[in-house]
Formats: sequence, structure tokens, C-alpha cells
Amino acid sequence: MNALTGSTSPTHLAPRKVQFDWSDVPLHWIPDQPFASHFLSQLHMMLPIGEFWFCKLFNQALPLVRDERLAEDVNAFIRQEAVHARSHQGASKHYLGAHGIETQSFIDRVTWLFQEGPLSDEPFGRPLPKWLARRWLIFRLGIIANIEHTTCTVGTYILRNQRWDEVGADETVLDILRWHCAEEVEHRCVAFDLYRHLGGHYATRWVHKLIWIPWFLYVYARGVEHIVRQDPAFKGRGAGPFSLSFWRQWRRAGKGGFLPGIGWFLKEELRYLKPRYEPVDEGDTAEALAYMARSQGVRAGAMAVGRW
Ligand SMILES: [Fe+2]
Ligand SMILES: [Fe+2]
Repeated sequence: MNALTGSTSPTHLAPRKVQFDWSDVPLHWIPDQPFASHFLSQLHMMLPIGEFWFCKLFNQALPLVRDERLAEDVNAFIRQEAVHARSHQGASKHYLGAHGIETQSFIDRVTWLFQEGPLSDEPFGRPLPKWLARRWLIFRLGIIANIEHTTCTVGTYILRNQRWDEVGADETVLDILRWHCAEEVEHRCVAFDLYRHLGGHYATRWVHKLIWIPWFLYVYARGVEHIVRQDPAFKGRGAGPFSLSFWRQWRRAGKGGFLPGIGWFLKEELRYLKPRYEPVDEGDTAEALAYMARSQGVRAGAMAVGRW
């Protein structure tokens, strides 16, 4: 095994319970910004699919880890991602569902990619020989390391962007996003450490990034379109990845400070390809922990655990 290194996480990771009250959250949770609201609400549909897949692959990788501290990180990562996934599932059901937005058909289509399709253990139902199954696992762990760079950079943006607060955006939605982003910053090193520990190569990071950026933008836009089409405010005019309208609306919301801009996103993505890239140099753990200390969702979760 080409075990180059172990854990580089600056702190011990702490899985947390959370609780969010979805009653009275408006569909356009950023006032007068329906597109930006739906753009971010898409996360409630898409994140759990990826996060449950992360948990499954990390559980498969855990017996291969030869570093005690990294094994602890991987365990804590699995527990944090499982809570993220369940919390966003709750938002899909109790928030989007309560507004009459159907989410399951989109979730089913994307889930297929991870459970039976190209990213599954047996792509398109074809079992892999043992030697290839191990390489396929490490390749997909590299995809996760690459995604976790995105969740850390976008997470830092979401933690810091005050524009939503200035216009009176809904506090419950902001809290689930910021609590989640704070944990993404907190555990930003784990996936990359695991990929490197199991022998993942630098060159393959380019392959992951070149696959990830177009795939992510396409599927993400499809999810936004799925919500927009069901919102009567858009009068049935959904805008998908092949429509100029989608990119124009994203650009406009980005200029207004309601979404990260496309140029910013691409620039942040490419930093992952630096030969000396280290996730510990991204984000700010103290900032993440400070947010968690004041999160209503984290407080409500801790109180609910205390009541049990
Ligand atoms: Fe997550
Ligand atoms: Fe994560």
C-alpha cells in the first residue's frame, strides 16, 4: 500500500445532532429572489444522494485505513455526512413538499447514477474483479475528495455572505446551510487524506475535476429547473442547463450578491489542481466552530438529545 500520510485535520471532529423547524418558511426564502431561492433549495434534493454515497464508500474504505487518527476522522465524517443527508431530506419533505414542490422524481433519477449507473459498485449491473473493485473504490474516493473541495469553498462563501441577512432571508434556511457548511469546513481534510492514504495519484485529480465540473453544472441546473418549473411565479418557464436564461439568471443573482458567481466558482475549483494543494489551507476552522456555537439548529439538536 502506498500510504503517504495520515490525518491532516487540525481538530478532532465532532458529530452533532441538529433540529430545524420548517413551519412558516416561505418558498421564496430570499425575499424577491425566487431564482436564487430555488438555486440554493436544490441542495436539499441533491446533497443527500451524494452524502449517503459518501457514507457507503467510506464504510468500504475504513478497513483499509492503517492510521488510527485517520480512521477516527473517517468514522466522524461518516456520522456528520449522514446527519447532513437526513437533515436535507427533512427540508425536501417538510419545506419543499409543504409548498407543493415534488422532489422524488428528480431524486430517483440522480440516485440511479450512484446506485446502479456509472458510479455504482457494479456499474450497469456488471460485477468487477477484485483487483479492479479496489481501484474503482479509490478512484471514486478521489471524486469525493474533489467534491469536498467544492463543499469547503462554497461552504466558506455561504458562511461569510451577509447579503442574505441584509435583505431578511429566512433564518431557518440560512441556519441549515451555514451549519452544514461549517461542518464541511471542519471536515475538509478527511476525504483528501483518505484518497492520498490509499495511494490516490495527483494526475487522477485532473480527471476527477474534468469530469466533475461539467457533470455537476449539468445535474445542478436540471435540479434548479425541476423546482422552478413547479413554481407558479415562473409561469411554467423552467430554465435548464441548455437555456441561456438559466445562465443569465445565475449571473444576475451572482452580481446582486445572492449567489456565488460562475467565474468565482470555476476559479475556486481549479485551485484543487495545484500540485501542493492541501485542504487544511482552505477555509477557517475557528470561523466554522464559531458558527456552530451560535447555530439555532445545533442548539435545538443538543436540547432534543438532552430530553431523551
Ligand atoms: Fe455534507
Ligand atoms: Fe462533506
